[in-house]
Amino acid sequence: MPEQVVTMDKIVSLCKRRGFIFPASEIYGGIANTYDYGHYGVLLKNNVIAQWWKAMIQDRDDIVALDSAIIQHPRTWEASGHLAGFTDPLVDCRTCKQRFRADHLQELQCGRKPSKHPGEDTQCDLTEAREFNLMFETTIGPVKEAGATVYLRPETAQGIFLDFKQVLQFARRKPPFGIAQVGKSFRNEITPGNFVFRTLEFEQMEMEYFVPPDQAERWYEHWLTERLDWYVRLGIDSARLRLRAHDADELSHYSSATSDVEYLYPIGWSELEGIANRGDFDLTQHARHSGERLEYVDAQGGERYVPHVIEPAAGVGRSILAFLCDAYDEDELGGERRTVLRLHPALAPVKVAVLPLLRRDGHPELARAVYEDVRRHVNAEYDDGGAIGRRYRRQDEIGTPFAVTIDHQSLDDGTVTLRDRDTLEQERVAIEGLARLLQDRLTVD
Ligand code: GAP
Repeated sequence: MPEQVVTMDKIVSLCKRRGFIFPASEIYGGIANTYDYGHYGVLLKNNVIAQWWKAMIQDRDDIVALDSAIIQHPRTWEASGHLAGFTDPLVDCRTCKQRFRADHLQELQCGRKPSKHPGEDTQCDLTEAREFNLMFETTIGPVKEAGATVYLRPETAQGIFLDFKQVLQFARRKPPFGIAQVGKSFRNEITPGNFVFRTLEFEQMEMEYFVPPDQAERWYEHWLTERLDWYVRLGIDSARLRLRAHDADELSHYSSATSDVEYLYPIGWSELEGIANRGDFDLTQHARHSGERLEYVDAQGGERYVPHVIEPAAGVGRSILAFLCDAYDEDELGGERRTVLRLHPALAPVKVAVLPLLRRDGHPELARAVYEDVRRHVNAEYDDGGAIGRRYRRQDEIGTPFAVTIDHQSLDDGTVTLRDRDTLEQERVAIEGLARLLQDRLTVD
C-alpha cells in the first residue's frame, strides 16, 4: 500500500487556505454539512464534471444527455419508494438533546462525554429509534398550509426515468442505451459529514443504462470495470481503489445487485460511487403510478419489454475529495517543505503559470504578452508577486502542472524556462510554439 501523508485536516486546511472549498454561511457561524466552492474549487469541479461527460458522451455513442428538474411531481417519490423507504433510523438523547443515527452509534461521540459513544454514559437517555425521511420538503404556492407539498430530489435518477419515453422517441434509441445527467441532489443528513464526503446538498453524476433484461448481468460487469478505470485514468492510485459488492441486507429497495467503488480516504475505505442493477423496478413503478406504458417496443418485430437498468451513480464532492487526497503530497525543496497537488493535468484548475523573473527590465511586459497568447488556448495564471520560489510553491499547492518563467535570456533569444511540477525539471523552450507545446503536454489520455 503506498504511504499516505495526507490527513483530512490537511485537505480541509489547504482547501480553505487556497479558496477551493470552505464552510458556507461562515459569517453566521456556518451551517451543518454545507460548503461553498471558491475559484479553484469551481475550476476543479468543472474539470471533473467535464471528464465525466467526456467518458459518457464523447468517448462512446450510446448515451444521451438530460437535465431534468430538481422539483418533480410529488407522486414521483411515492412511486420510487423514497417517501416510504428513504429513511434513516434516528435516536434522540433527552440529556444532551442531540440526535444520532441509531445504526452509527459505535462511530459517534456522546454529546456530553465525547470519549464515549452515545448511550454509553450513565447520564445518556436515548429514545427508541424512529425512522426519519431524508427528503427535504417544501411547498408550491404562497400559503404553506394550502400549497402542495413537494420535495427536493434526493437523487437525479428519477428525473431520467420520468423522461424515459420522451428520450426514447426524440433520441431514436434502442436498448442498450443510456441517459446521463449531472445535477444537485439534497438529503437531510444528520451524520457528521467529514468535509464534502457527506453534505446536505451535493452534485451527482448519474447514468441510467437501459438494457434488454437478459443482458443486465453483462452490462453490470461492464460498468463496474468502466467506472473503476475512469478514476485510474484520471490519476488515482489503483491501490487505493477497490470494488465492494453489497451484502443482501445492504441493498437499496430498488436494487438486485450493487457494488461500490471505494476509495481509501483518510477516514478509511468509503463509498466513492455506487453501481447498481436496478432491474425494471423504476420503470415498472412509474408506469403503475402514472398510467403511462414505459417500455421498449421494437418497430420491426413488435417485440416489447420493460428494459432493465444498470446505474453508475457518482458524487462530484466525493470524487473531488478523492482526487485531492490522492494528489496531495509533501516534499522538501531547497531546504523548505513543499505542499504539492499532483493532479492529473485534465483536472488541474490552472494549467500553466506565467511568471516574470523580475518586476522590471522588460520582464513583465514580455511575460504579459506570453500570458495573453497562452491563455487563449489553456487556462493560465499570471503572477508577479513575490520571490520566484514562493510563486512556484503557490502554483504547486494548487496543482498547476507547468510554470513558464521569463528572464533576461528571454528578451535576447525568445526562449523561456518551462518547469514541470512533478519532475521539477526546467528546460528552455521557444516562445514561438509554446502554446502548442503546452497543449500537447497537457493532453494525457
Ligand atoms: N441514484 C442512486 C443513488 O443516489 P447513492 O449511493 O445514494 O445512490 C450515489 O448516491 C453517490 O452520490 C454516492 O456514491 C456518493 O458519491 C454521492 N452521495 C450520496 N449522498 C451524498 C451526500 N450526502 N453527500 C455527498 N455525496 C453524496
